[in-house]
Amino acid sequence: MRCDVLTLFPRMISSALDESILKRARDKGLLDVRVTDIRDFTANKRRTADDSPYGGGAGMVLKAEPIVKAVDFIREEEKDLRIILLSPQGRRYDQTTAHELSREERRIVFLCGHYEGIDERVKIILSPEEISIGDYVLTGGELAALVVIDSAVRLIPGVVGDSSSIEEESFNSILDYPHYTRPSEFRGVQVPPVLVSGDHENIRRWRRRQALLNTVRKRPDLLSGEILTEEDRELLEEIKEEESL
Ligand code: ADE
Repeated sequence: MRCDVLTLFPRMISSALDESILKRARDKGLLDVRVTDIRDFTANKRRTADDSPYGGGAGMVLKAEPIVKAVDFIREEEKDLRIILLSPQGRRYDQTTAHELSREERRIVFLCGHYEGIDERVKIILSPEEISIGDYVLTGGELAALVVIDSAVRLIPGVVGDSSSIEEESFNSILDYPHYTRPSEFRGVQVPPVLVSGDHENIRRWRRRQALLNTVRKRPDLLSGEILTEEDRELLEEIKEEESL
């Protein structure tokens, strides 16, 4: 995945990209990110990238010129860009879009808004896709851009160790099963015996049952769109009886 992040706070982005799996993905050449300070494209000495809104009102608005110029600069190198504006007014981000971005061939340009808003002409001129990571308002688009990058990058083959778990995930939108590691007893709580039984078929069935149980209890809405196997239907019947649903 190749991307540019345009931001007023480049260190917010680069500090996250320098840790953990994102760092490893970059070192392996699976993620190429350039972070650009929008202020580098301002025309004035004081490098101001915001101004008060026409028509009055509280707060400041991000100016159009530095953002559009920064995108022009990237376009000189590469014409066909996918431009994404992070904003609470965007289409809701989800795992399907994460998969799609992980396979994107074009360079992705993330525009991080800040302050009260962004001059509308950025949208008119660049026609970006608008993406929201949820129905709440952040102080800026930086954390949202990082959420999007992180969730897409981990789906690129070779970024995380076990690709079979990612494959499993891509076909199943149900919740996860519980995980345990050593010791087998902690503060009086035992690991479920099936997990130490060595019976792989039983373990697989137990995990699937727990995943379905978790989903029934916490996110039953996820099950309505899910394609279920014969085994899933059996397990769900058992669960529903037990939970007296
Ligand atoms: N900027 C501010 N709030 C946001 C949100 N919820 N999603 C994406 N970008 C944002």
